[in-house]
Amino acid sequence: MLDIQNLHAGYGEMPVLRAITIALVEGEIVSVVGSNGAGKSTLLKAISGIIKSTGTIKFNQESLHALPAHTIVQRGIVHVPEGRKIFPDMTVVENLMMGGYLHQKDRQLNLEKVFALFPKLAERRNQLGGTMSGGEQQMLAIGRGLMGNPKLLLLDEPSLGLSPLFTEVVFGAIRTINSTGVTVLLVEQNVYQSLKISHRGYVIETGSIVLTGTGEELLDNKEVKRAFLGM
Ligand SMILES: Nc1ncnc2c1ncn2[C@@H]1O[C@H](COP(=O)(O)OP(=O)(O)OP(=O)(O)O)[C@@H](O)[C@H]1O
Ligand SMILES: [Mg+2]
Repeated sequence: MLDIQNLHAGYGEMPVLRAITIALVEGEIVSVVGSNGAGKSTLLKAISGIIKSTGTIKFNQESLHALPAHTIVQRGIVHVPEGRKIFPDMTVVENLMMGGYLHQKDRQLNLEKVFALFPKLAERRNQLGGTMSGGEQQMLAIGRGLMGNPKLLLLDEPSLGLSPLFTEVVFGAIRTINSTGVTVLLVEQNVYQSLKISHRGYVIETGSIVLTGTGEELLDNKEVKRAFLGM
């Protein structure tokens, strides 16, 4: 579904991603794990067209490089960025409706799906986004992404800063979303939880992929255990 080859990207003169090659099959959850500053968020930004890159990015055989970011969203690639970035002065429902502006006729049905996935959002539908707790805002950010009818969901650190309880809720929701047919590319600090729910994963180090395997293989890998699991 997503085929990335020899991808290079950076900011101004500074290179960040070097010759990244990654592939996602439809229906998978794939994790990209790596230390702070390794280039995980940069990778997601390159895929969704927020930053320029060179190399190949194909989504269902179509090159994304010729397409502006808003067209990439229309193709079904929805990016839920790091740090939530919800609209603080809009209510929960208004935030969700903004996420569905490209899909007017599906909005009511999608809203009900989001509320079924996160009942907390239904309870707080008229509360201002900015007054929600961190975990609630994260649910809202994911919910807003789902309103965009994603085929491929790019999730950047969805569990960052969340309590163990909210972390469980978020990882459970990612599994549920995937089970409805949405392919997921997940970037996480929580290496254990993310590899546990992933079909496959990649380890990124200073902008290069250094290791790949199934979620289980990576959890069992000596280097992964030492670098990310404190074992
Ligand atoms: N807008 C920017 N302008 C210049 N440099 C940037 C910009 N955004 C990120 N960088 C740099 O690019 C490198 C990779 O950053 P990136 O955000 O992709 O890392 P990350 O793996 O997502 O890290 P983290 O786990 O901390 O979120 C870092 O050295 C960072 O300082
Ligand atoms: Mg990041």
